[in-house]
Amino acid sequence: MTAESRPTAQASPKTADLARQQCVNPSCAATFGVDEPRFACPRCGDLLDVVYDWDRLSTPRSLKDFEAKWSRQLDPLCFSGVWRFRELLPFAPPETVVTIGEGRTLLQRAEKVGRFVGMTPGNLMLQYEGMNPSGSFKDNGMTAAFTHARMVGARRVACASTGNTSAALAVYSSATDLGFTAIIFVGSGKIAHGKLAQALDHGALTIQIDGDFDDAMRRVREVADRLGLYLMNSVNPFRLEGQKTIMYRVLEGLGWEVPDWIIVPGGNLGNSSAFGKAFIELAHLGLIDRVPRLAVINASGARTLGELYGHRGLRWRSGLPDDTIGETYYAELDASGVKASTIASAIEINRPVNLKKCLRALDFCDGVVREVSDQEIMDAKAQVGAGGLGCEPASAASVAGARLLRREGIIAPSDRVVCILTGHQLKDPAATVAYHGTDPETFDKVLGARGVHRAEFANHPVVVANDVDEIIRTIDQRSSAS
Ligand code: F0G
Repeated sequence: MTAESRPTAQASPKTADLARQQCVNPSCAATFGVDEPRFACPRCGDLLDVVYDWDRLSTPRSLKDFEAKWSRQLDPLCFSGVWRFRELLPFAPPETVVTIGEGRTLLQRAEKVGRFVGMTPGNLMLQYEGMNPSGSFKDNGMTAAFTHARMVGARRVACASTGNTSAALAVYSSATDLGFTAIIFVGSGKIAHGKLAQALDHGALTIQIDGDFDDAMRRVREVADRLGLYLMNSVNPFRLEGQKTIMYRVLEGLGWEVPDWIIVPGGNLGNSSAFGKAFIELAHLGLIDRVPRLAVINASGARTLGELYGHRGLRWRSGLPDDTIGETYYAELDASGVKASTIASAIEINRPVNLKKCLRALDFCDGVVREVSDQEIMDAKAQVGAGGLGCEPASAASVAGARLLRREGIIAPSDRVVCILTGHQLKDPAATVAYHGTDPETFDKVLGARGVHRAEFANHPVVVANDVDEIIRTIDQRSSAS
């Protein structure tokens, strides 16, 4: 169906009747109502999607139509950078939407970072999701999942997290005052202090378990099942509906033009999955005429996707990937006791729950997967900081990945590249201070142990005696007068 032949806003049927949940496995394809809280297909255990009867929904004729929302910012549904695109995630009646003003984020042209990556001027853009209320992209998904939780009358909401999901969960529970109780599972010592601080400060029941994210994820699923908790991880298909809007805002920031590349760090693979779904739907609706390529970047210490996609040939295959490839790899990890390990703690994940949906995204967007070392991540992070925005280590994997793909010649200097900066710089100050600081012991403890041996782009603090002449002499030596 073309954009022209779709019904217009005047003929708006009730949206919730026109959305449903559907198993991604085409040989199952079981469907469920959007009023059911489900986090896996009860028939076959596979992931669920939210799908829509687009032909019966009123969708815009052109992405430009969304610009009408810009002048209606007093309406919370237009203020939100997620819900101003609600015609593209129409699963909830407007009055049930839970929003705290998320998604008002920035697509910034980044010349200095572009030079580091090897791009010609004007061609590297950073989509800065650290500007969200909780400081990471998670708010895009959380607003959608909380909306669904409200639709189904859930009260106790839970997640396992490397830190940002839990921070967002805690923020939404406390800021909305709708009677939600946040319960979060984290691996003890596995989350950066900025994120732990948020969970505690915002009153979440914080369960620290002896283990890593993969252990916490397994436990939260068991416990959610037994206690009937509403699960807020990205196995929740409504989370990913919200995360699609990151791509809508990228297009918005480019005047609705499609870039050549979207580059995103890969952890649990929710973002990459959501981005793929966004482009599949936009193409289906005739709202874009080309599709960007997608690059998903793993940290080399948490490289499941890199291994399975890059080396073992795992592919989407129209929804029927060879599951034995992943099962064999996981059995090998278990047998050898290998755990994920990277300074980019947000993506320290070896069993990404959205693997299958990510394969679909890679298939549709002619994707590539790469791995970058912690050294490359920290150097890229320093360059992002020097360029003005700042991000946490996991986010910098996207920039390190762009640089690698440029060097390999996969990305041309003239390509238009958008790197997603997923989380704010202040989420993990320990990594930043260790990189820039002068204390070798801290460097070794925080970074050396991860295989980071140089700080080529460090901006070291200067230790000076408490003496005015000494201070002035140092400033004169170290800075040029303008
Ligand atoms: N970047 C940041 C800052 C993250 O917090 C995460 C995931 C990712 C990238 C990876 O995104 O899972 O969609 O591939 N953080 C999750 C959490 C796992 O618990 O906060 P993904």
